[in-house]
Amino acid sequence: MKIPLLMPMMNESVKNAVCESVMNEFFVGGGSVKKFEEAFSSYIGTSRAVGVSSGTNALSLTMEALGVRGKEVITTPTSFIATANAIVHAGGRPVFVDIDYETNNIDHGKIEDAITEKTAGILPVHLYGRPCEMDAINRIAKEHGIFVVEDACQAHGSEYKGKRTGSLSRAGCFSFYSTKNMTVCGDGGAVTTDDNQLADLVSKMRNCGRKDQNVHDVIGYTSRLNTINAAAGIEQLKLLDKSNSNKSEIVKIYMEGLEGVGDLVLPKESSDAKIAYHLFVIKSKSREGLMSHLKENGIGCEAYYPHPIHLQPAYVKLFGYREGDYPNAEMHAKTNLAIPIFGDMKAEEAEYVVKHVKNFFGGKA
Ligand SMILES: Cc1ncc(COP(=O)(O)O)c(C=O)c1O
Repeated sequence: MKIPLLMPMMNESVKNAVCESVMNEFFVGGGSVKKFEEAFSSYIGTSRAVGVSSGTNALSLTMEALGVRGKEVITTPTSFIATANAIVHAGGRPVFVDIDYETNNIDHGKIEDAITEKTAGILPVHLYGRPCEMDAINRIAKEHGIFVVEDACQAHGSEYKGKRTGSLSRAGCFSFYSTKNMTVCGDGGAVTTDDNQLADLVSKMRNCGRKDQNVHDVIGYTSRLNTINAAAGIEQLKLLDKSNSNKSEIVKIYMEGLEGVGDLVLPKESSDAKIAYHLFVIKSKSREGLMSHLKENGIGCEAYYPHPIHLQPAYVKLFGYREGDYPNAEMHAKTNLAIPIFGDMKAEEAEYVVKHVKNFFGGKA
């Protein structure tokens, strides 16, 4: 059996929407963009969504629009590097707070110690789809008069206390990269918010700073969501709940089958949250051996991520971070392994993965 780590859900409607769009719409700024934005904001539960060209740009434009230049933004060292890059792009300084080793998310209990007079906001990441402790994070932010923006790039469809991630703070930033919970069949992103002023500014910034066609009243970028991608996104969004609920069935098989196997640490469930799993990440001190064993048996798996952001060469060079600065993030980087999960995954495939993980640890197949 060959099982990929991740695979986007696809159907004829997505294909047809792309063909329709290519033949009948303007490639940039066509009607599908607004339709997608309306559908996505309504799904997430915010009044606005602004389509942009990637998750990175969703984050960078939001950080810039909120004015972080010369200021600090608190975030996690355990994420895709784009989370921290966005703060740097906007002229700010990322200040990392270590993760909780069990949830893999920023340890909200350590945030307060990192706040200084330069702190502009907090950028928590709902890693692998698991919502952060938003009540605690929002409470801290309110007390200190700073913003919270969610990096929801891995959490389309997750919920925290009955509300969708991306609607739990000043703004949510999403990626529609091909392996995410939903895609736009290429790069794409969105900023979700109830703040009209912020949405208007991000809209302008993504479109070369245009006030109207020939008048530019802010310095902007070419960071729009293409029409064809938006057309694909409209259909992809219709598949999202099905994909997420199929993945929940895979999660049940993994949780039951892998409980107590070897030294495995399984993802921690939450009574406050409904987790739309982007990745199913297990941890083991024997990660390298386990990864080789699974790959030899046709099972896609990767470390997400093998290096915490603060130890990436660019961050060591810029900010002088060192090994030992964030011990939980560093341990996580050494032990984590994402195993296959995707919307169309079959129970037999999950059972095959369980069998080979158990084999590795010397259990019976
Ligand atoms: C947590 C997180 N933040 C930001 C990004 C950046 O998104 P994109 O690749 O669309 O720029 C990603 C995805 O790659 C991500 O997983």
